[in-house]
Amino acid sequence: MATCVSVFILFFFFFSTFYSTIDAIFSEELAQGIAIKRIEKTTHLHFYFHDIVSGKNPSAVKIAGPPNSTAYSFGATAMFDDALTEGPESTSKLVGKAQGMYGIAAQQELSLLMVINFAFTEGAYNGSSISIVGRNPVLNDMREMPVVGGSGVFRSARGYALAHTVRFDMKTGDATVEYNVYVSHY
Ligand SMILES: *[C@@H]1O[C@H](CO)[C@@H](O)[C@H](O)[C@H]1NC(C)=O
Ligand SMILES: *[C@@H]1O[C@H](CO)[C@@H](O)[C@H](O)[C@H]1NC(C)=O
Repeated sequence: MATCVSVFILFFFFFSTFYSTIDAIFSEELAQGIAIKRIEKTTHLHFYFHDIVSGKNPSAVKIAGPPNSTAYSFGATAMFDDALTEGPESTSKLVGKAQGMYGIAAQQELSLLMVINFAFTEGAYNGSSISIVGRNPVLNDMREMPVVGGSGVFRSARGYALAHTVRFDMKTGDATVEYNVYVSHY
């Protein structure tokens, strides 16, 4: 009996020691990250997005949709490479391009799924980008879409974009949308 108990104790001691020495580390802060400790910044960006669907050189083209669908049918999807300018006029200074896709994602209303990369070309932001994935009920005065990430200056970005249509041509479908983007990054 005594032998049995001591074997048990030995066994228990060995295994409890053994298990407590296993390092099962799922995540850790890297020494490099601790040493740098950079300060988080918040940047406000303001620009105008020009979505041209008409004419010989549209900047947005339909790429998918149900058979015989119009540009406003549920499922209609477009790819765009739209100019981003400093002011509301299309002739205003170019600060980047909005490259992405939008599709009509609602059956009972006019609401888009937006997937956008804002690729900036201006000043310190040249070569940096901000990525957006969000819901865009286009008839609302103000739409909010999440910033899901970024690159370059905007690496690890998070934040939100506020979109407001300033011009919409009912005949052609061309639109100018004002964007205010608030983004936190390092
Ligand atoms: C689409 O339009 C074509 C030509 O008008 C027609 O032949 C076809 O049946 C239509 N398809 C559907 C799914 O409505
Ligand atoms: C942005 O960067 C590209 C590539 O490095 C360069 O060719 C271009 O002149 C730059 N534009 C501005 C406005 O600085």
